[in-house]
Amino acid sequence: MQIWTLLSVLLLGLLSKSQLLIAQHLQNDKLTLLAIGKELRLSEWDGNATDFCTWPFISCSSKKPFVEKLDLSNHGLQGNNISLISDLKSLKWLDLSRNNFHGTIPPVLGNLVELEYLDLSFNNFVGLIPPYLGSLTNLRALNLSNNMLVGVIPDDLNTLLKLQDLQMYTNRLNGSIPLWLGNLTNLRVFTAYENELSGVIPPMLGSVAPLKLLNLHSNLLGGSIPEAIFAMGKLETLVLTQNRLSGSVPASVAKCRGLSSIRIGNNMLIGGIPREIGNVSGLTYFEADNNNLSGEIVPDFSRCFNLTLLNLASNGFTGTIPAEFGLLGNLQELIVSGNNLFGEIPTSILGGKNLNKLDLSSNRFNGTIPKGICGASRLQFLLLGQNSIGGEIPREIGECGKLLELQLGSNYLTGSIPAEIGHIKNLQIALNLSSNHLHGQLPVELGRLDKLVSLDVSSNQLSGSIPAALKGMMSLIEVNFSDNQFSGPIPAFTPFQKSLNSSFVGNKGLCGDPLSVSCVGLDDSDQDPYHHKVSYRVILAVIGSGLVVFASVTAVVLLFIMRERVEKAAKDGGATEEEINSSSSKPVIAAGDVFVENLRQAIDFEAVARATTKDSNKLSIGTFSTIYRAEMPSGMVLSVRKLKSMDKTMIHYRNKMIREVEKLSKLHHDNLIRPIGFVVFDDALLLLQQHFPKGTLAQFLHDSENGNDHKPSWPTRLSVAIGVAEGLAFLHSVAIIHLDISSGNVFLDSNLTPLVGEVEISKLLDPSRGTASISAVAGSFGYIPPEYAYTMQVTAPGNVYSYGVILLELLTTRLPVDEGFGEGVDLVKWVHAAPARGETPEQILDAELSTVSFGWRREMLATLRVALLCTDSTPAKRPKMKKVVEMLQEITQN
Ligand SMILES: *[C@@H]1O[C@H](CO)[C@@H](O)[C@H](O)[C@H]1NC(C)=O
Ligand SMILES: *[C@@H]1O[C@H](CO)[C@@H](O)[C@H](O)[C@H]1NC(C)=O
Ligand SMILES: *[C@@H]1O[C@H](CO)[C@@H](O)[C@H](O)[C@H]1NC(C)=O
Ligand SMILES: *[C@@H]1O[C@H](CO)[C@@H](O)[C@H](O)[C@H]1NC(C)=O
Ligand SMILES: *[C@@H]1O[C@H](CO)[C@@H](O)[C@H](O)[C@H]1NC(C)=O
Ligand SMILES: *[C@@H]1O[C@H](CO)[C@@H](O)[C@H](O)[C@H]1NC(C)=O
Ligand SMILES: *[C@@H]1O[C@H](CO)[C@@H](O)[C@H](O)[C@H]1NC(C)=O
Ligand SMILES: *[C@@H]1O[C@H](CO)[C@@H](O)[C@H](O)[C@H]1NC(C)=O
Ligand SMILES: *[C@@H]1O[C@H](CO)[C@@H](O)[C@H](O)[C@H]1NC(C)=O
Repeated sequence: MQIWTLLSVLLLGLLSKSQLLIAQHLQNDKLTLLAIGKELRLSEWDGNATDFCTWPFISCSSKKPFVEKLDLSNHGLQGNNISLISDLKSLKWLDLSRNNFHGTIPPVLGNLVELEYLDLSFNNFVGLIPPYLGSLTNLRALNLSNNMLVGVIPDDLNTLLKLQDLQMYTNRLNGSIPLWLGNLTNLRVFTAYENELSGVIPPMLGSVAPLKLLNLHSNLLGGSIPEAIFAMGKLETLVLTQNRLSGSVPASVAKCRGLSSIRIGNNMLIGGIPREIGNVSGLTYFEADNNNLSGEIVPDFSRCFNLTLLNLASNGFTGTIPAEFGLLGNLQELIVSGNNLFGEIPTSILGGKNLNKLDLSSNRFNGTIPKGICGASRLQFLLLGQNSIGGEIPREIGECGKLLELQLGSNYLTGSIPAEIGHIKNLQIALNLSSNHLHGQLPVELGRLDKLVSLDVSSNQLSGSIPAALKGMMSLIEVNFSDNQFSGPIPAFTPFQKSLNSSFVGNKGLCGDPLSVSCVGLDDSDQDPYHHKVSYRVILAVIGSGLVVFASVTAVVLLFIMRERVEKAAKDGGATEEEINSSSSKPVIAAGDVFVENLRQAIDFEAVARATTKDSNKLSIGTFSTIYRAEMPSGMVLSVRKLKSMDKTMIHYRNKMIREVEKLSKLHHDNLIRPIGFVVFDDALLLLQQHFPKGTLAQFLHDSENGNDHKPSWPTRLSVAIGVAEGLAFLHSVAIIHLDISSGNVFLDSNLTPLVGEVEISKLLDPSRGTASISAVAGSFGYIPPEYAYTMQVTAPGNVYSYGVILLELLTTRLPVDEGFGEGVDLVKWVHAAPARGETPEQILDAELSTVSFGWRREMLATLRVALLCTDSTPAKRPKMKKVVEMLQEITQN
């Protein structure tokens, strides 16, 4: 400061008037920046270095050293007075997005007449859009999205003639979209979705502008889709879903060959799809469900070679599906349910290799199911229910190896159920054959469908007994055998006895539980009546919102099974323990090995086995295993993980598993637990590992009784976070995906170095190797990434999500699932919604830590940003584990 003042005084005499002005301006910018730095608590700008153009977040003009660009996005800033910024008179670029600014948008921003780019999105700004922004006539981009702005879009902005990008989505704006938007000649992007806008879309919008992206979904817009938006032929994305639009789809859409995504569902559109749609050669995504569209489905779609999804559900379409659709080699989903379509199931499209979902349900299709129904395709969803399909179910249905859901209910199918259905091993969401004319016996092969959750064969003429082999359907939750001619005892199988008796009524000859008809002379004492209440609220909390309903339902169901099985396994384990204790016989060791040479002497397999039979040795219970403390006669203490044999195949593949464990024992990383040996005892696999007297990270964070009278400090937590991240980054580098990342699977050694455990599970339960059912690999509640409900696959980005949950636990000292967050809200949602609730970081972070020092607070805020990235609901937006390590290391270095 002093030097600068001295310098300016010295130079005063030598400078021309304009130079003097520049010098003053310069000093002003510096003073302003210092004041802003103070107001926003940006310690990066300590003001000691003379040249502020070298300070972070700032760029100066190339000619004169005035501040031209200020980028403070994503810094957790929350000072509510950004008025000071308006003194940076030369500013051209101002980005304050993704902070916690609140209050109204200061009108003085209108003074920044040089401004070309203004981004205030993702903050908590309230009130109206200030009319003064109309003074910013140089603006090319204005982004006000994701705030809590109300009122109308002011007409004063009609001076912003240079606007190219105007984004104002997710606010509470009302009134209509101003007509003058149609006069902007440079407009490329206009988004205002998720507001309360009414009125019509300006009829001239896009008429003179190279409009590329128009997204207005979820408003109250009426009127028709204006032709103008297609006029310049540049449109690439059009999203108008969930409004009150009427009128028809304009034929002028043909002008936009590069239009790839058209989403106009949930409106009141009428008329047919114009045949000109075929000229939109770039079309990949066409979604127009839930309208009042009519006419035939035009064959012209077949000219759009890239078409991936076509959804015309719940309209008034008639006629047949054009045979030309067979040309659509990229088609993945064809959804035409809820129309008046008829004719044969189109065999031409069945040849498409990419076809994943075919939904013809609730129409009047009246052919038969073709023999090559699955052909070469990868069909996962075949939904043909509520039609007039006749004939028999072809045996070739067994070739549909990828099917997850098969809906054939409410048709006119005859013949018997082909045994080949039992070959569809992947079938898991539902098998519905109800309300047809099927007869004969249930094939015993159905018992092979061990992943199937819902089986409905009700309202047919099926007869014979319900085969005991159906007990192989280990994942069943929902069954319906009602209204058939079944006879004999209902097999003793928990999912049957737990069903309502309405699942079995209407069969004259059936007896036993749950029907109140007793089977005289039949011993059903081996039933297994376990009743366990699962908190649906907790389960729902882990499911991301806005998912396809059936997907969530499936996931809920699958999680339900998983949880129940785990509980059951724990109980079964308990029973075994008692037996062993009472008989006090010598444990029979089937196999065992120690991989670490110098530990061989110290480990006694019988002592290991015996340790797992005593409840008092139990240390923790995880998703896939229970951990016991085992003291060896040598005095050495080990942790022993007893794998829960949820999956019969685990026993079957034991030798393979042992080889995997051996391989893993050679994998070296400081933050991963290595197996040191194994014991096979009483059909259970016991894995030996180092003992960690400090327990798990979950215990360390959440158990106050566990000898942790004081909370772990922030630096300790950050170093734990980095260690875990490094361990996972290493796993990913050798292409191993962890299947159950949670704080309960992170162990702490005496130096509080974290070690990730249960790595083996990913090898032992790898679903791609067919050694486990998908339902077994979801992980722990609260850590399951939302996309799991769609994909049923744990991926590297899924791991990043689970890791992000651990980061949030470290930052908040909160459990990942807690009823205190509210119904259906887990830790991730609770944190992500904090800005919307108007909460400050202190209300989220563990305030006992964040208020200790400014340094801790800054590090916590920076870590929170990483955690938010990791838990982004879009997998592709999450950083790689390696990047996470880098970001966290940067936090410790700054
Ligand atoms: C900046 O200057 C102040 C006082 O002039 C001094 O206390 C502080 O340590 C300096 N900071 C740095 C980073 O040099
Ligand atoms: C914000 O700062 C400006 C300029 O320093 C000052 O005039 C104004 O009163 C401040 N507003 C609030 C709400 O603190
Ligand atoms: C705001 O809008 C501009 C212009 O479209 C865009 O470049 C920027 O990425 C947006 N900001 C955020 C945070 O999405
Ligand atoms: C817009 O919302 C405000 C309240 O936020 C209300 O006062 C006003 O009447 C609404 N205007 C329209 C056109 O709906
Ligand atoms: C759009 O521009 C035309 C011609 O320049 C003008 O007549 C009209 O009033 C403008 N519309 C709006 C809403 O500003
Ligand atoms: C559609 O494309 C065909 C052939 O490319 C062309 O002849 C026709 O004029 C186009 N129609 C429209 C409305 O653009
Ligand atoms: C189809 O998609 C590919 C790959 O995205 C793209 O290169 C091609 O241009 C698209 N075809 C048309 C006609 O747009
Ligand atoms: C749908 O359109 C038909 C005629 O095209 C009309 O009779 C019917 O009322 C419309 N339904 C709705 C809900 O608009
Ligand atoms: C299917 O329905 C259509 C229209 O109702 C009819 O013309 C056709 O003959 C029917 N086909 C069969 C196989 O029943």
